[in-house]
Amino acid sequence: MPRVSRRVGAIGESPTLAVDAKAKALQTAGESVVNFGAGEPDFPTPPHIVEAAAAACRDPRNHRYSPTPGLVELREAVAAKTAADSGYVVSPSQVVVTNGGKQAVYEAFAALLDPGDEVIVPAPYWVTYPEAIALAGGVPVAVATTGAAGFRVTVEQLEAARTDRTKILLFVSPSNPTGAVYARDEMEAIGRWADEHGLWIVTDEIYQHLVYGEARFHSMPVVVPSLAERTVIVHGVAKTYAMTGWRVGWLIGPPDVAKAVGNLQSHLTSNVSNVSQRAALEALTGDQSSVAVMRAAFDRRRRRIVDLLRAVPGVTVAEPEGAFYAFPSFERVLGRSIRGRTASSTLELAELVLDEARVAFVPGEAFGAPGYARLAYALGDDALEDGVTRIAKLLADSA
Ligand SMILES: Cc1ncc(COP(=O)(O)O)c(C=O)c1O
Repeated sequence: MPRVSRRVGAIGESPTLAVDAKAKALQTAGESVVNFGAGEPDFPTPPHIVEAAAAACRDPRNHRYSPTPGLVELREAVAAKTAADSGYVVSPSQVVVTNGGKQAVYEAFAALLDPGDEVIVPAPYWVTYPEAIALAGGVPVAVATTGAAGFRVTVEQLEAARTDRTKILLFVSPSNPTGAVYARDEMEAIGRWADEHGLWIVTDEIYQHLVYGEARFHSMPVVVPSLAERTVIVHGVAKTYAMTGWRVGWLIGPPDVAKAVGNLQSHLTSNVSNVSQRAALEALTGDQSSVAVMRAAFDRRRRRIVDLLRAVPGVTVAEPEGAFYAFPSFERVLGRSIRGRTASSTLELAELVLDEARVAFVPGEAFGAPGYARLAYALGDDALEDGVTRIAKLLADSA
């Protein structure tokens, strides 16, 4: 018998966190590293949110267990925010507050999948989805999209991937890692197709507030209302409010699913830290001006990194419309000799660039997209410039 179960033994380390850990270890050792690896805002959490948490620490009510699905006030605030920002009306009882969006992803699949059920996962995808699906006994079925198609999947591609075991379509817009945002009519076509075939939708809306230019966010159960009874939304405060470390997310589902998820969570982690929940409550209900300030900074950096990357010979990149990631192709760089070393995959290239130029990014293999790389541009303007310049100089040393 294996020492570690097959189920858990099959899980790989999160490649994004692994890159981040390696970059941070080098930094701790005194090296100057530009870290495009981590998917988190570089801003501190806005002060009024931190103050709410500090006050919550001093209130003994927060020192005790609280209801597993979340503080009543926070579930109400999530329902109100969903109605106001997405136009989707839900009852607070449909909301389960989770330990980050990640737990919501895990619990959504755990609650919906039986062994062998298939989930269509458009690629490039965020690293956690296939692992969460597999852990729940499901089968992730990746559907590749291309940069030329704006990394957006079509109904034809989805239909080609559908089998009689397909239960769920995972829908993510804006996307991590590509920054792609679906137009409303594209979403509607996809949603109608899913509805026609009785599929469930798990939709990750964590980047809802980070869309730029002409792009607009839309919520699937609003675009196709008949999907509401088979839709689970994953969301959280991490990206919008620079709160990755606070670990507050949520899931919104039909009442039976929300109830089942609450039951699961009651045996798993119980309530999310009350102090963090109070901070999230302030984030959702307090002053929203910091959101616009951070979004404006990301937008500026987005345009800057695209310009910088496009100036690097051999690198091509589409302009991301949401989130805070650039997803360039390094395909034309592979196979070249760079300072005496040759990278034949972006996995090897990422290692080479970290070793030789002290720049960290996540290779596309992690997202089911070899040849590409994810550079999170949620870091300071100077660091961003420095990082891409280092890559350009290194690649200029290639033959
Ligand atoms: C697409 C997507 N969903 C969910 C999450 C989960 O965020 P958290 O667990 O920090 O709330 C992330 C974080 O990287 C993400 O990129």
